[in-house]
Amino acid sequence: MVRIRAAIDHLVPYDGGPGFEEFSRRFGARGIAMLAGNEYPTPPFPEVVDAIASAAGGINRYPDAGTVRLREALAGMLGTTPDCVWTGAGSSENLTTAARALGGPGTSFVYPWPSFAMYPINAVYADAESIRVPLDEALRVDLEALAGAIRDDTTLVIICNPNNPTGSYLSRAEIHEFADRVPESTLVLVDEAYGEFVAAEEHSSLIPLAVERPNLVVARTFSKIYGLAGLRVGYMVGQAPTLRSLRKAQSPFVVGSLAEVAATTSLRFPERVRERFELNRRGVDYLEGALADRGVRYVPTQANFIWLRLGPGTPGIVQELLEMGTLIRKGTEEWTRVSIGTDSENRRFIEDLDLVLRRRRS
Ligand SMILES: Cc1ncc(COP(=O)(O)O)c(C=O)c1O
Repeated sequence: MVRIRAAIDHLVPYDGGPGFEEFSRRFGARGIAMLAGNEYPTPPFPEVVDAIASAAGGINRYPDAGTVRLREALAGMLGTTPDCVWTGAGSSENLTTAARALGGPGTSFVYPWPSFAMYPINAVYADAESIRVPLDEALRVDLEALAGAIRDDTTLVIICNPNNPTGSYLSRAEIHEFADRVPESTLVLVDEAYGEFVAAEEHSSLIPLAVERPNLVVARTFSKIYGLAGLRVGYMVGQAPTLRSLRKAQSPFVVGSLAEVAATTSLRFPERVRERFELNRRGVDYLEGALADRGVRYVPTQANFIWLRLGPGTPGIVQELLEMGTLIRKGTEEWTRVSIGTDSENRRFIEDLDLVLRRRRS
């Protein structure tokens, strides 16, 4: 028997759910509503698809290990320099890289809970102790409790904003104030995977602070509003020496050349990103309204998903929806998460939910 590290052997791996193709095949004519992964529900911009096709002939070569073109384009958009931007194979991989760089025996990571499922997994990979801090009563990240949980051995504190799975949001000022209280030897990582969907304030990102402070990094991704989840590309913004240290823990060439081309091309269309933001808010308004009409409790969202309470029996309801081709995210015994889809997917979710709830009542 090979000797797997005990911590890895006991780990429950990240549950990515069924893939789109596999799930579609099962439901034929009725089609599916894929509302489990917080992806953007429509394809990437056509120019992006064309750029990938044009670049495909060159993939006999290794990608650019420094993703120079993408980092230059990002730096231009963000008003910073390319050395304050680093890239990875999605935010997941960037978070894992940061965890590897900051963990080790005798360290701890502090993060809110419930939150993104990779945080505890990364702590196991990194051999760091997990300190989970419950959300407050409104299901918001509890900054007071988070600050209180930081110990001398805490090397990483994560804030997910908006928080997955609750969609709750902290203002930039609140996080700034929190960051002022964190010791300089602890890295604050603000995971803004859903940052482009925030409607609460125009300037919500912590990126301007990240380029000023050695112990603050922001992680963003092309998987969500840009619709590139299948390609795996994301980025971190922070001070150059901090990023240089973190990336020593990263495998080489994690961003493939097609991913780099697609992400770089996507940045040329900010007006379409704005349209996507507005379409998402339309879906949020519809779904929040429909849930309120039905007396279903939910957390008002600043992201592209809603955390809702279906009460005891929630896992059974989620399973029944899945059997109808409407896939939402497994949550807890009483709560679950639905991603904002196209208008027709959103309507279908509500219709199917009505049907399941009626069936259960009769
Ligand atoms: C909060 C959060 N961070 C990071 C990610 C990772 O996204 P990706 O690895 O696709 O960039 C996700 C994905 O669902 C997420 O919800």
